[in-house]
Amino acid sequence: MTLLETMLSSANNWQSIVCDGCTHPYSHYAGGCSDIRGWDCEKCLNEIHFAESAYNHQDPNKILIRKDYDCSKLLHCYVQRFADRYYKSIKYACKNIDFGIYPILNILSLGCGNAPDLAALHELAAGKPLIYTGVDSNPCWSALQRNIENYAQNLDNNLFVKFICGDALQPSNLPQTEIYNVVVIQWLISTILKGGGTPENIYSLFNGIVASAASRWREEHILDSPFLIILSDVDNFEFGNYILNSPHTLIT
Ligand SMILES: C[S@@+](CC[C@H](N)C(=O)[O-])C[C@H]1O[C@@H](n2cnc3c(N)ncnc32)[C@H](O)[C@@H]1O
Ligand SMILES: [Zn+2]
Ligand SMILES: [Zn+2]
Repeated sequence: MTLLETMLSSANNWQSIVCDGCTHPYSHYAGGCSDIRGWDCEKCLNEIHFAESAYNHQDPNKILIRKDYDCSKLLHCYVQRFADRYYKSIKYACKNIDFGIYPILNILSLGCGNAPDLAALHELAAGKPLIYTGVDSNPCWSALQRNIENYAQNLDNNLFVKFICGDALQPSNLPQTEIYNVVVIQWLISTILKGGGTPENIYSLFNGIVASAASRWREEHILDSPFLIILSDVDNFEFGNYILNSPHTLIT
């Protein structure tokens, strides 16, 4: 089984999951979104993704709309709906990259979720050593992330995966000693901006990553490798494409 197939199969039971600790804002439904009659986590995803646009205008009660991915059931639904698409986005973004010139892949993925980027890069690495550190602030991903760690531990001797639950905007949450040669940021910039973050948050995130990666690289002379940053996000001005389209504004 490929990593992508493993991810999809570990989420294909999403409809039978009962939310535990889900905070869907319909407060009178104590059991979270699985308790709302006729409800479907596809609707939860639409609420999160389109809260500021058409979907929201139809709902006079905006306060009842879900804004966060804080439910394990909806995250399983997310994987079923998006993992394959986001895996393909990374493959497409890398279509002109020659991974043959990278001795290993040591990847830092920010806002990694269930790591569809890893599924793509694992294939592109074609058997060379791959170390992956995924950082995400949402603890509800943990069950899906454990499946990926198990896959690495049991099925591939060249794959080393670790997930950190923490805010990627706080440099202290990022590992201080790894020497990365690939940084992936997929759907994090728009998520941060939608959640009330500012472009300055994004600029300082980039400056922090590049400064710390570059200093270790320079000082330790360990990796004879190119350095790759993969950005993949929404093509929408409101949610940051002006940032993605102007890489020179990202790194000062
Ligand atoms: C739309 S999901 C994308 C997940 C994954 N990268 C993908 O492509 O499927 C956005 C993710 O960013 C995470 N996130 C949002 N703000 C974050 C922050 N400040 N630090 C770390 N993760 C964050 C969310 O928890 C969520 O998992
Ligand atoms: Zn729920
Ligand atoms: Zn739901």
